Amino acid sequence: MERLDKFLCDSGAGTRSQVKAILKSGRVTVDGKPEKDPSKKVNIGTQTVCLDGEPLTGKRRMVVMLNKPAGFVTATEDASERTVMELLPEQWRHLDLKPVGRLDKATEGLLLFTNDGDLLHRLISPKKGVEKMYYARHEGQAAEADVAAFAAGLELRDGTVCLPASLEPLGPGESRVTLREGKYHQVRRMMASRNMTVVYLERQREGFLTLGDLPRGQARELTQPEILRLESEI
Ligand code: URA
Repeated sequence: MERLDKFLCDSGAGTRSQVKAILKSGRVTVDGKPEKDPSKKVNIGTQTVCLDGEPLTGKRRMVVMLNKPAGFVTATEDASERTVMELLPEQWRHLDLKPVGRLDKATEGLLLFTNDGDLLHRLISPKKGVEKMYYARHEGQAAEADVAAFAAGLELRDGTVCLPASLEPLGPGESRVTLREGKYHQVRRMMASRNMTVVYLERQREGFLTLGDLPRGQARELTQPEILRLESEI
């Protein structure tokens, strides 16, 4: 048994305050009877909860942020390497979470997971152009000509053409790189095409989401307002 308001939130009906208003306006039924009490206990195994007449499955839509440490591959399974899935808490394992895009084994930082396939595809689609910001330490120094080449749309050594991107030198051998796409090893290959070798890479931001004070190796669930904002921006 769980509280009706929590069930509605978890089902993606809205934020806590939106769910409160939805309940008040009588749009929710439990086994066909209108129900306005947020604290009403429901058994989702045996009862049917409807919003505007549509049954809610209760399949919890989740979006998770991980602060990935180096040494883990971005894959759901791997025969020889440790995967990012091992870093998620045990109680989330059955929720069918999938990584959103990928970070290399050596790359650290912000990696999202979701069990909402549509959201996942929108987040990784180059058409949506969600910004990804990286901090890179590298051999070689970024110069004005490199900044201009990134802004114009770089051609990689294998001929692949990248969308315009931002390169901001932060100091000797340190730069911030912001992309709107996610090709294989993209930051490392972009820097290599300008004769700089990346020795450390951390993703610090995706869309409006930053790591905040999330410790390395830890994961947290996004809040409903964060999920709704993410959706509204893609
Ligand atoms: N670019 C890279 O080269 N590696 C990553 O992990 C992410 C972006």
